[in-house]
Amino acid sequence: MEKPMIFAEEMDRRIKETEDIIRKYLPRPEGYQKTVLEAMHYSMSAGGKRLRPMLMLETYRMFGGQDRIIEPFMAAMEMIHTYSLVHDDLPCMDDDEYRRGKKTTQVVYGEGMAVLAADGLLNLAYETAAGAVAEAGNERERLLAAQALLVFAKKAGVHGMIGGQVSDVEAEERGDEVTEDQLLFIHSHKTSALIQAAMMTGAILAGASEEEIQRIEDCGCRIGLAFQIRDDILDVTGSLEVLGKQSGSDEKNNKKTYVTLKGLEEAKRDVESISEEAVRLLSSFGPHKSPFLECLVKQLITRER
Ligand code: IPE
Ligand code: IPE
Ligand code: MG
Ligand code: MG
Ligand code: MG
Repeated sequence: MEKPMIFAEEMDRRIKETEDIIRKYLPRPEGYQKTVLEAMHYSMSAGGKRLRPMLMLETYRMFGGQDRIIEPFMAAMEMIHTYSLVHDDLPCMDDDEYRRGKKTTQVVYGEGMAVLAADGLLNLAYETAAGAVAEAGNERERLLAAQALLVFAKKAGVHGMIGGQVSDVEAEERGDEVTEDQLLFIHSHKTSALIQAAMMTGAILAGASEEEIQRIEDCGCRIGLAFQIRDDILDVTGSLEVLGKQSGSDEKNNKKTYVTLKGLEEAKRDVESISEEAVRLLSSFGPHKSPFLECLVKQLITRER
């Protein structure tokens, strides 16, 4: 009984730590761009789980990273993730009204401003990460930061997250059944790619080897798959109050998900087994190298939000 209690406290502490870092990189809403900057703050503000920057920091620490160069990358990560959510909620995509326990950005600021706020976050993410490269303390650090930025950009791009969203939209427009292969492509791109970006960036910045980075990529793939399957489950079983977004979005859009493909029970079993594979990969770096990471992945199996 005591362990989850302590874990919940640890999570709260780490969310706060992450939010304190992210906040430093958001420009103040002022000047002629005040409205769009406010919309950027609005979409980035409290309510998110901050999973990706948290995974980045933990992976960085797991490989011995101790420097503050990780901080701009963490902020950039959450900016990319948040922009992807703002676009995902637009009427031309999933058309959703709630996100992170509040009305979506387009509902509050209008569609045009929501598109621009997301564009603003996307650009600010690269400005922030490129700033970290420019300000690196020495040549080795600069090289690692440049390598991290390259992986980060690829995983967020058309061969990563955007590619997954494209397939998701196309599958929905076609309206026919999706195969397990197609769905795995969608999930591993729209969701795993940013989780891989987070963990690989952490590993690269800490100076992990090629082989270790590859293992982290495999691990991130599994964490992302399990995370998206759980998201598909919660879209059926969750509530706005707990989830912070309305359930039933996938059904409303007639979207084929892991749950429509396999049913709730098998989906739950798969979240568990895929997460266990991720934990095994984590422990391959050494027994309990990062107890918090292992615990986090296990907790995500039964997350309610
Ligand atoms: C939502 O991600 C989008 C998916 C990939 C399922 P999160 O569930 O991490 O959203 P926040 O950041 O906590 O709001
Ligand atoms: C979106 O997947 C993943 C993104 C890249 C934004 P979903 O459309 O299932 O995410 P939610 O359920 O709206 O958060
Ligand atoms: Mg979507
Ligand atoms: Mg959606
Ligand atoms: Mg969903």
